This record gives sequence, structure tokens and C-alpha cells, in this order.
Amino acid sequence: MFESVSIGGKGETQAVVFGIFKGGTLDAVARAMDRDGSIARAAARADCTGDLGRIAEAYPTGKGAPGRVLLVGLGDRAKFKPVMLRTAAGAVGRRLAQTKDTRVSIELAALLSDRAQKGARTKPDFAGRLFGEGLGLIAWNYDRLKGKGSGERPKRTALQVRSSDAAFTRGLEEGLGLAASTNIARDLSETPPNIATTNYIAAQARAMAKKTGLSCRVFSGDELEKERFTGLINVGKASENKPCMIRLEWAGARGSKRAGKHSQPLVLVGKTMTYDTGGLSIKPTPGMAGMKRDKDGGCAVIGAMHAIATVIKPARRVVALLAVAENSISDEAYRPDDVITFRNGVSVEVTNTDAEGRLVLADALIWACEKESPAAVVDIATLTGGVVTALGSTFAGLFCDDDRLRARLERAMETTGERFWRLPHDQEYRDMMKSQVADILNSNPNRKAHPIQGAAFLSYFVEPKVPWAHLDIAGVHASDGDSGCFVKGPTGWGVRLLAQLAAD
Ligand code: BES
Ligand code: MN
Ligand code: ZN
Repeated sequence: MFESVSIGGKGETQAVVFGIFKGGTLDAVARAMDRDGSIARAAARADCTGDLGRIAEAYPTGKGAPGRVLLVGLGDRAKFKPVMLRTAAGAVGRRLAQTKDTRVSIELAALLSDRAQKGARTKPDFAGRLFGEGLGLIAWNYDRLKGKGSGERPKRTALQVRSSDAAFTRGLEEGLGLAASTNIARDLSETPPNIATTNYIAAQARAMAKKTGLSCRVFSGDELEKERFTGLINVGKASENKPCMIRLEWAGARGSKRAGKHSQPLVLVGKTMTYDTGGLSIKPTPGMAGMKRDKDGGCAVIGAMHAIATVIKPARRVVALLAVAENSISDEAYRPDDVITFRNGVSVEVTNTDAEGRLVLADALIWACEKESPAAVVDIATLTGGVVTALGSTFAGLFCDDDRLRARLERAMETTGERFWRLPHDQEYRDMMKSQVADILNSNPNRKAHPIQGAAFLSYFVEPKVPWAHLDIAGVHASDGDSGCFVKGPTGWGVRLLAQLAAD
């Protein structure tokens, strides 16, 4: 939608954005600016309903007046939640992309910090952050692969935003940073599988780490054998694009006591399948299209690490593990009936090569527990079609029996709006995964409780004492239409949630 969105201080303001609640009045800053009464008249017009995201415009005249004033509806004051500012920002962004105003002042701080707003009162820095997120998220576009066949590329404006409120401006900057990190994940998700190969993902992770001061190590080739990454080796066997395990580390903010080498890190694990054909258990055509996005768990982790290094900068250490492979077919492919044994001694009978995500995640989970002495492990994966059936695109599936970790994730969810719903772990599901020839199956052909089977399988690779959460994002990682501050395509689900978790 925009070429870029940044904080800009210089140059005459072309448009000013104020907020208005349903049935509400202009705030003091708006009234002070309203020399010719045009803003008050716009606020009194029938089209200024105050509904969330509804915009009414005024065109003030006179010396020093901005050409355009946007009054953006914030909904019912009694029902207002700060996170709605993201939606309001999305609406403002869509409008500004049409008007092509580039220097815009966002004046919401006065309204939201006014005592009269009671329950709707929001701290300016937080309000700024949410508004910045919304603007940055709506800005996302991906037209780098459009060629001569599409004619001229649309001219996009470079939007510069500012606010007269310093705290709000700081928040805007933070929000734009979080959105930019989310957009990194969306760009990667959108990149087609003939470009976003396993090596490409590794190169992108390396480049991002170098730019942001994270450390990065990539295990590939013989090192996979040496470290006995059984899942990656087997799932990745049939592809010319060889598998790898990427490890990123945020060492903790400088000078922090909590970040010593021996401190226990938060470990983020991402399924990064650059393409999922299903392997020999090949997917039917309609089920295969879109499987370039089977890397979105890993993309979310890359985006979260970017946010952690550039915006959040937490005191604690954070380690990321990306299990990267392409699930393809050839005469070298792993097959249904194969039995493979993992580094932790658990043997797996492969019943379905399309249940590949759990196999590569197993490598990362074992490594996390054995090598990283984690405070907590959170994995994120487009793991099952079953979670799409169960929860659609509204909630991700969460599996987490650790009350403290779950409470922290829930708190993060409240802030970021990336919502999940808890599904159960149970010994009965673990028993369902038992195999006659090996310890466990990678999928029970009984067609029952697929998302839970996935989580039950993964539980065999996590040390019982380690707090662990599994997020199945197969339903929420992409959107089929424009909504709120998202457009059709990848949502970058999990970037802000995981970054916020690291901040907490
Ligand atoms: N990557 C898929 C899951 C998926 C489905 C992601 C739809 C996004 C949208 C996963 O590897 C898979 O194929 N899962 C199978 C598991 C089954 C074979 C046990 C599924 O859910 O059908
Ligand atoms: Mn699959
Ligand atoms: Zn998959």
C-alpha cells in the first residue's frame, strides 16, 4: 500500500488525523486547530458516525491549515479497547494511500489521555505503538515479481508520520518497528518455493542476524549427520535443496544480569518447510497449492527475532531454531513404513510422509531441551489441516500444560491480537501414537483428532520438566481477504506474539 512508512519530522503537514467516539465530541487539540469551524462541521455531519474505522473528512482553509483532516471513528467509548487502534490505523492507512498525502500528523493522544474518556483512557506510548503497528501492517505489499506483463507498477507513496505528543511518537516508532518485523515474515511467506529454497532461507537468516547483531549458526550437510538431526535428514532427502537447522541467538541486552552465558533462554522453534508436496504420500492438487507457506512458523520466528533485536531488546537470552527442509519426491525419498530413530532414542514408524513437520520439529525440540537448558520452549508450525477445520482462521491452536507459560502467552495475546485457543494434551492421545514396530507412529491412520495427534507426537521429544507450548498456525498464517489491518495473503502470525512474550 505504501512504499514505506517512517517517522518524519520535517516539512509541512499535509493531513492531520483525529479520533472521535460514537456520539463524542472533538478533543481540545482538534478544537484549537479548528480556526474556520470546518472540523466541527465535519464532526456534526451524518457521515461522521464514529463507528470504528469510519472516516469523515474536513478541508480547513486559512494560513497554516493542513489540506485535509481525517476524523477516524473509534467506536463506542464504553466498548473501546486499545487494540482497536490497530483497526482504526488500518482504515486511516487505506485512505491515505488514496489521497497520497505523505506528511501526516496523528493526533490521538489528547483524546485518549483525557480523563473524560474513563475506561477508554489509553497511555499515549501504547496508543502510538498500536497505531504504528496498524499503519505498518496495512502498508505491506509484494510486487517485486510483477513483470512486463502487468504494465506500470502502481506508484506508492512514502508515508511519513509524526505527532505533537512525544510519547505517542515514540510508540509510533515502536509499532512501525514491530510491523516491519512482521512484514519480513510476510515477505518470506509470499516468496515462491523456487526462490525461497532452503539455502535462501539460511542466507536471509544470516543477513538479518548480521544486520541486527544476532549470532547465527547454520547446520547443514555432514553436520546434520553429526548432530543426528534424523527428521531433517529424512524429510529433506528427496529434494535437491538440502535441509538445514538454523540457530539464531539474542544474547540479552548489554549489561543485563539476566543474560549471562549460563542463563536459561527462551527458545523459539519454527517449522520451515519451504515446500510440502506431501512426499510419497503426495497431496492432491488442491491440497498442494499454497504449500509455499508451510515455512510460516519459521518465518514468524525470524520476524520475532528481528523484533527482539531491533525493538524489544529484552534482558533475557532468546534462542531460535529453524528446522528447514523441502518435502519433495524422488527415488531417494523417505517412505511410508520407514522406521527412523531420533537423537533422544525414540524410534518412529513413518506411516505418512505428509506428516513431515512433526519430524523436523522433533530434531529442534530435542536439541532445545538437551543443549540450550531452556527456561521455556515455544514451537510454532503450520502443522495440520485439522486445526483449520477446528478453529478456522480466527484462532491458532495452542497446546500448553504449563500454567505460567500459558498465562504469559495469554498476556502477550491480549496486547498483540494474535489469538489462540487451548486444545488438550492427554495420555490417551499419546497412546494413540504407539506403533507395533517402533515406539511411535508419525500419524495414526484412524483420522481422529489430527491437531492433537501432532501435539502428542511432539510431546515425545520434549523433556517433561521443560515448560513447553506448541502453536498450530495452519489456519491463521494467511488471510483469504482484506480485513482490519491485513490484506489478502500472509499475516505474519506469531511475530508480534513471540516478540511480546520475550518482552514480558
Ligand atoms: N503442512 C501441512 C498442514 C497444512 C494444511 C498447513 C493446510 C496449511 C494448510 C502438514 O504437513 C500436513 O500435511 N498435515 C497433514 C497431516 C496428516 C497427514 C497426518 C494434514 O493435516 O492433513
Ligand atoms: Mn505435510
Ligand atoms: Zn507440512
